[in-house]
Amino acid sequence: MQIITIDGPASSGKGTVARLIAKKLGFHYLESGAIYRVVALISIQASLNSLDIDKILALIDKMKLTFVGGRVFVANVDVTESLRAEEVGMMASLIAKNDVIRKRLLDFQRGFATTPGLVTDGRDMGSVVFPNANLKIFLTASSQIRANRRYEQLKEYNKNITLDNVLKGIIARDKQDTERSSAPLTYDSSFVLLDNANMSIEETARHIISLCKF
Ligand code: DC
Repeated sequence: MQIITIDGPASSGKGTVARLIAKKLGFHYLESGAIYRVVALISIQASLNSLDIDKILALIDKMKLTFVGGRVFVANVDVTESLRAEEVGMMASLIAKNDVIRKRLLDFQRGFATTPGLVTDGRDMGSVVFPNANLKIFLTASSQIRANRRYEQLKEYNKNITLDNVLKGIIARDKQDTERSSAPLTYDSSFVLLDNANMSIEETARHIISLCKF
């Protein structure tokens, strides 16, 4: 069984790239950020704030989360679109600072590693969840480039959005994700660092597959 992890900051394209690699290789795919976003969404729906740790843990223990054909379901309700809201991303990033919550989600994430293999993306997939993965990528690009990408995606749905606001949001989330004490967004010499500023999704996926030694 082979595992490829792709970690990186918001809007680095890691999710799209990871999904494409999984498709090309016939591997399973896990978007770990969706798990944190689901926890954030159900916490917001329960009017909790990110510091209500015990109540959030109780929600996690009861949570019925499934991934079916690229969609995300909570107790059979399709929440895929709701997860993309900026408010949910920000809450996910706040909740994700907590070590007890992260530990509670470890086994759930590791359960996705089944034959023939897994491609997974997130902030700590190579550093904490699957440290012995066969290939660990840290995918990134400058905050300005990531903000441009995100702005292009969001402006169709949200006419009030400005590039400046998107950039501020990206910088704030980078800070929150890299400076937290529990499983911060980071990499070491066991990772391959890949800046995809000048690469398309297809080129990034092909390049990562070319690095696979299996
Ligand atoms: O990848 P994303 O933007 O959907 O992730 C949302 C938040 O969840 C992100 O800001 C930090 C958190 N997260 C995490 O801490 N660890 C992961 N493996 C994935 C996401």
